[in-house]
Amino acid sequence: MNYRHSYHAGNHADVFKHAILLRLAELLQRKPAPYCYLDSHAGTALYDLQGEAAGKTGEFRDGIARLWDRDDLPDMLKRYREAIARHNPDSHLRFYPGSPQLVGDGLREQDRMILSELHPEDAAILRAHFANDERVAVHLRDGYELPKAFLPVAEKRALWLLDPPFEKQDDLDRCLKAMQVAIQRMRQTVIALWYPIKDERLLRDFYRQVAGAGLPKVLRLELSVRPADNTLGLNGSGLMLVNPPWPLWEELEGVLPWLATHLAQSGDGTYRVDWLAGSP
Ligand SMILES: C[S@@+](CC[C@H](N)C(=O)[O-])C[C@H]1O[C@@H](n2cnc3c(N)ncnc32)[C@H](O)[C@@H]1O
Repeated sequence: MNYRHSYHAGNHADVFKHAILLRLAELLQRKPAPYCYLDSHAGTALYDLQGEAAGKTGEFRDGIARLWDRDDLPDMLKRYREAIARHNPDSHLRFYPGSPQLVGDGLREQDRMILSELHPEDAAILRAHFANDERVAVHLRDGYELPKAFLPVAEKRALWLLDPPFEKQDDLDRCLKAMQVAIQRMRQTVIALWYPIKDERLLRDFYRQVAGAGLPKVLRLELSVRPADNTLGLNGSGLMLVNPPWPLWEELEGVLPWLATHLAQSGDGTYRVDWLAGSP
């Protein structure tokens, strides 16, 4: 395991993923009934953007930093920036919350959070960070096992962020299998799978497989900040949302064009929103 999220925290992919993740959690909290948040590849709680790792890549400068001082953010992005601002009370951007912190900040008394992380250092930090919070369980284990180990949940409502580092060839395959297990065990699970946009051929196969996998509604969201033929690295990223709550897709009509315009790094940024399975 070489991947460390501290090099990438707050980059364009995090902005896209976290703004939508936060909205998913908010939408699940419209009802007073409890829900359980599962984060299978949790990373750690807070990232220091002035630390060595973030400083080496500077990726956050083309991510969260581009939103930080703007006064024309769509509502969803405004709330996302407020969530980051809570960790930077002097309004200077330094700390960036990872997904467990971001969702954990909004957790209500009745909600619960199950985190797994395979890197021993990050898992230990998470465990210490949430040690006094009975609503949070941290596991040092393979995140792909989460659905089998914990679904269905007693709350009957679950949001699962599936966010592997994609270091291995078979990660997309494993994601699809794990999503199928989750849906077989609890059909109403809301799943957000994040994936990188790098190899278009691999992705075309993946789209076909997802569409035929027997999942209920699947909404595909993508945001690219560079042209697809760029060989420099992460051109963009996607979120495959299973069972997304209404009216997320309507709200995104104003958000994704804004992100595509303001996070573009070379050429025009692009986005797409469409249904791979089912539709509202
Ligand atoms: C993309 S990062 C997570 C970022 C985090 N979800 C966020 O949005 O802030 C992926 C994480 O998965 C961890 N990881 C890698 N393989 C794993 C596995 N099989 N099970 C659980 N965690 C794993 C890595 O150590 C890394 O911290």
